[in-house]
Amino acid sequence: MDARQLKIESARAALAHVTDGMRLGIGTGSTAEEFVRLLAAKVATGLSVIGVPTSERTAALCAELGVPLTTLEETPELDLTVDGADEIDPELTLVKGGGGALLREKIVAAASQRMIVIADRSKLVDMLGRFPLPIEVNRFGLRTTEIAVASAARELGLSGPITLRMTAGQPFVTDGGHFILDASFGRIPNTRALSTALHAIPGVVEHGLFIGLASAAVVAGANGIETVHAPR
Ligand code: A5P
Repeated sequence: MDARQLKIESARAALAHVTDGMRLGIGTGSTAEEFVRLLAAKVATGLSVIGVPTSERTAALCAELGVPLTTLEETPELDLTVDGADEIDPELTLVKGGGGALLREKIVAAASQRMIVIADRSKLVDMLGRFPLPIEVNRFGLRTTEIAVASAARELGLSGPITLRMTAGQPFVTDGGHFILDASFGRIPNTRALSTALHAIPGVVEHGLFIGLASAAVVAGANGIETVHAPR
């Protein structure tokens, strides 16, 4: 099975958890896009759901394919979010934000009773940190914030390059109008401590560590779907 087919299989497994009348959080990224396509096909044949998109990109795809959308202003509490991830550890702590949508993704996941992660097996790791950690930062004071991030990491024994995400020669700008620092700290044994330390920095808007948000991951591999549940 090729990489795209694995994404489709994972998305299909998550769709089985979607029932009529649900208020959904709809993720961002290539796997989430497969979910949107499958969801749209179900909507076209009568499934009634409403969704909050986690990015302008996802909003545009939903609009194009006819998935009804709402906002967190109109619908502040959601039943289920389905979203991809860049890394998934055995406790279902995630690294997200490779697509730059981590802030809205985290707000939407936190507004949901359940979050199901869709991914292929390549996203499973024994410890987070192979993928650089995206940190969304305010544009003001960028250099100061970068120094503060490095210093907070150092206090926790973490170090490595911190780079401003670029696209087409310009800083990447998130849907919220912020920049992203990608922090290549390597293995992160102390995710909660790092989360707390990053949140204490004024210029940090949000980071891509998703702790205690995912309820399950449906992970597609050559031998089918494996469902990983969050520890209780
Ligand atoms: C978007 O900001 C990310 O959090 C994505 O969910 C993550 O990068 C996974 O994307 P893919 O499904 O494209 O790998």
